[in-house]
Amino acid sequence: MENRHSIGIFDSGYGGLTIFKSIIGKLPEYNYIYLGDNARTPYGDHSFETVYRYTLECVEWLFSQGCPLVILACNTASAKALRSIQQNVLPYKYPGRRVLGVIRPTAEVIGNYTDSKTVGVLGTRGTVKSASYLMEISKFYPEIRVLQQSCPMWVPLVENNEHLGPGADYFVEKYIGRILEADDRIDCLLLACTHYPLLIPKIRKILPENIRLMAQGEIVADSLGDYLNRHPEIEQIIAKEGIRKFFTSGDTENFDRHTSVFFGEHVASEPMSVG
Ligand code: DGL
Repeated sequence: MENRHSIGIFDSGYGGLTIFKSIIGKLPEYNYIYLGDNARTPYGDHSFETVYRYTLECVEWLFSQGCPLVILACNTASAKALRSIQQNVLPYKYPGRRVLGVIRPTAEVIGNYTDSKTVGVLGTRGTVKSASYLMEISKFYPEIRVLQQSCPMWVPLVENNEHLGPGADYFVEKYIGRILEADDRIDCLLLACTHYPLLIPKIRKILPENIRLMAQGEIVADSLGDYLNRHPEIEQIIAKEGIRKFFTSGDTENFDRHTSVFFGEHVASEPMSVG
């Protein structure tokens, strides 16, 4: 069957599955194609140019599969590639297509999660270095103080399925300890990487109860539902058969094994080859 008129969901690897899970929980009727660039994950330490090139290649592939709308379910790709794709590629090459990210919808609502107006943002080195959250949050909530901490060991732990093992404790304590030391008024920690929700059981164990942990799945799902309501020209051309397809640039067997853990159901992925 041709993959026409599906919503594309992209991540550097497995992390976007945490967003995808929430999206299908809220919007199960649409057809979706998930693409994980597992062959080149993690993106977190790559340069802007590299993340842009990889992300654009994957977005163009999803377009070639008939997706009129692609969600970058990856903070690193949203921080480093989204704006260039939206401004420099779509209007000239793909005027009818849309690409959305996860940073703006998160920044829009973060004010509802903090009383002290002090939030901690945990992300990859790339996301932190881009300062995207500082900029986006200040647009909606100039009064909120934002502290950032990069957690470079968390994505490898998740990608290697070691996130619930004893080895993960050290790195969870290390990064959580650092961000909480930065300002004792922090009352909300944002998991600004789609891999990080897998670490919630470990993080919650050491986090003081008064600190809210904010993951992006529900937020992005709500924002997508809202977007589709406001854009009937896109909504109407997306097939509504509830078909979900999974592609990976990495090893399909590996992907399928991991996906059952991260996504809660068994999937049979198909290969996609990158540059
Ligand atoms: N899950 C991604 C994010 O949200 C990317 C992690 C990575 O590839 O480094 O940032």
